[in-house]
Amino acid sequence: MKKISVLFLLLCFAAVGFAQDNLISNIGSRTSLSLNGTWQYIVDPYETGFYDYRYKELREDHPDAYWNTDVQANKTEKKEHGYSDKHTLEVPGDWNHQAPEFTFYEGTIWYKKSFDYVKTATTDKFFLYFGAVNHRADVYLNGKKLGMHKGGFTPFNFEVPTALLKEKGNFLVVKVDNKRHADEVPTLNTDWWNYGGITRDVKLVAVPQVFIQDFVVQLAKNTTGKSPGNTPMVEGWVKLNQAPAAGETITVEIPELKFKTEIPATGATTTLRFKLPKITLWSPESPQLYRVVLRTKQDRTEDKIGFRTIEAHGTQVLLNGKPIFMRGISAHGEVPQEVRRAHTQQDALQLLNQSIELGCNMVRLSHYPHDEKVTRLADSLGLLVWSEIPVYWTIDFGNDEVLEKAKDQLQEMITRDHNRASVIIWSVGNETPVSPARTTFMHNLIKRAKELDATRMISAALEVSYGSGDDIHHIDDPLGEFVDLVSFNEYLGWYGGLPDKCRTTSWDTPYNKPLFISETGAGGKGGFHADSLTRFSEEYQEWYFKEQVAMFKRMPAKFVGVSPWVLSDFRSPKRNNPIYQEGWNRKGLYDEKGNKKKAFFILKAYYDEIANKEKSKKR
Ligand code: GCU
Repeated sequence: MKKISVLFLLLCFAAVGFAQDNLISNIGSRTSLSLNGTWQYIVDPYETGFYDYRYKELREDHPDAYWNTDVQANKTEKKEHGYSDKHTLEVPGDWNHQAPEFTFYEGTIWYKKSFDYVKTATTDKFFLYFGAVNHRADVYLNGKKLGMHKGGFTPFNFEVPTALLKEKGNFLVVKVDNKRHADEVPTLNTDWWNYGGITRDVKLVAVPQVFIQDFVVQLAKNTTGKSPGNTPMVEGWVKLNQAPAAGETITVEIPELKFKTEIPATGATTTLRFKLPKITLWSPESPQLYRVVLRTKQDRTEDKIGFRTIEAHGTQVLLNGKPIFMRGISAHGEVPQEVRRAHTQQDALQLLNQSIELGCNMVRLSHYPHDEKVTRLADSLGLLVWSEIPVYWTIDFGNDEVLEKAKDQLQEMITRDHNRASVIIWSVGNETPVSPARTTFMHNLIKRAKELDATRMISAALEVSYGSGDDIHHIDDPLGEFVDLVSFNEYLGWYGGLPDKCRTTSWDTPYNKPLFISETGAGGKGGFHADSLTRFSEEYQEWYFKEQVAMFKRMPAKFVGVSPWVLSDFRSPKRNNPIYQEGWNRKGLYDEKGNKKKAFFILKAYYDEIANKEKSKKR
């Protein structure tokens, strides 16, 4: 008995690490048990289930800990916590829209799910995988702590020691805490609703002892300024969870292309470099995806991948060697009609179809990584994607631990989506105030992003200053030196003067790089009509976009696109005008019911004009 428990402890202890280094990518192709559905919960604002009355963390085997069984051992045993079907929440889903008492709730809720599991292969390894939990998740199974994760918008997984997994009545508990803190990412202040909960899919995943943990199969980085041609070079790698046995090989197969190559494994990570036969390059016009199957002796995983190159070349952005203009829109991961976080396939379809209807070929998924369903759908619908981590406004830039937290989220974002052809830009933040500490912090993030993925553009939404009286605004943020795409947010006519200020304004940047407007927008309450000088009327917003579009047409040649703020009205605790806002940011081009506002048609006309010009050029 004694011998098993020491080994057991070692295994459990080993598992209580930080998730990102063993994050399993392409989880959708794995054998798994979905743990989505109805979970029981305990709301615990005082964290009574975690700390004792001296506010010391409870011992793992403490009977009052909410991760331990809530069943009395006998009629005398004192139990002051319990999970019941009286209190349930749906997973995935935020708690805010599931019960009125949780609309504004920020704190801890304990989720509990019981499940049975019959192991099919005794030799397998098991992982609990979470698509996202906002913000801090402490995960326990059968009374054992598996790990803790922070970051509300990226995936993580914890290994489940085989011996811990029971055939009947597994007791899975997740302590979810969405309280905001100054030293977290995001920090205390955001212009979006802090939805809490287990907001994306939960799975128990089974993999062989030695398995393909992560891989990149993408075209080699293109710096030529030319097309990669249609028999391009693939450069990538395959990462196993551990060093393989001698003689192990990696097979890459693309059945549609009758392509197959077998490479000796060179260690836990093996580099891939091979030429593809004739292919159709991925682009918005032809979002061609290919089934790519990866095998080792024990393991197999497959993914649908598009092959394309993207680069900032001089002051242009080149997709497959051709200049592109990004007709974009910024969007939150929210379903306004139901006032909830987006997580279903239908939610992803709504977001992308609304963008396509607007005439977009690009979406800025702000200000955090959206559900994986969105980037995968963008792959198949042919939409370019800007993906961002929530380094937003006044992060604690001088704090190294905060930098590590941001780097963790960056790594998780990139690991999840680095095979998505649609994703062309990794953004390391939004509107971070210029200071030496901030620029160093952001520069470190940019360096880390390039280490993780040198094949995509790195950017950040920079701020501009108004009101210098001089009508030429310079995007001279020091961070411009380190990004590939110089992107800035401007609200000329909403936060700076009236919309006609655009007529005398122009923009420039000292950086010989492509220039992108990552945000511009104005409030307009759907259905409120007045003259165009009346704030929050649809007519004011419409006027705003008329002036902006005219200004876009006068932008310098290095202007490569725009992603206005914002696709739909969204919930924000910072918007409290009782007549026009009531907790909604009203800058959507769609209102919260999905109706198009007048400004929608101004932007659509501009995008259609550009698209038609490009089409006629190709003829
Ligand atoms: C900012 C910010 C957004 C915000 C928007 C607004 O630029 O990046 O998150 O919602 O402006 O003020 O509406």
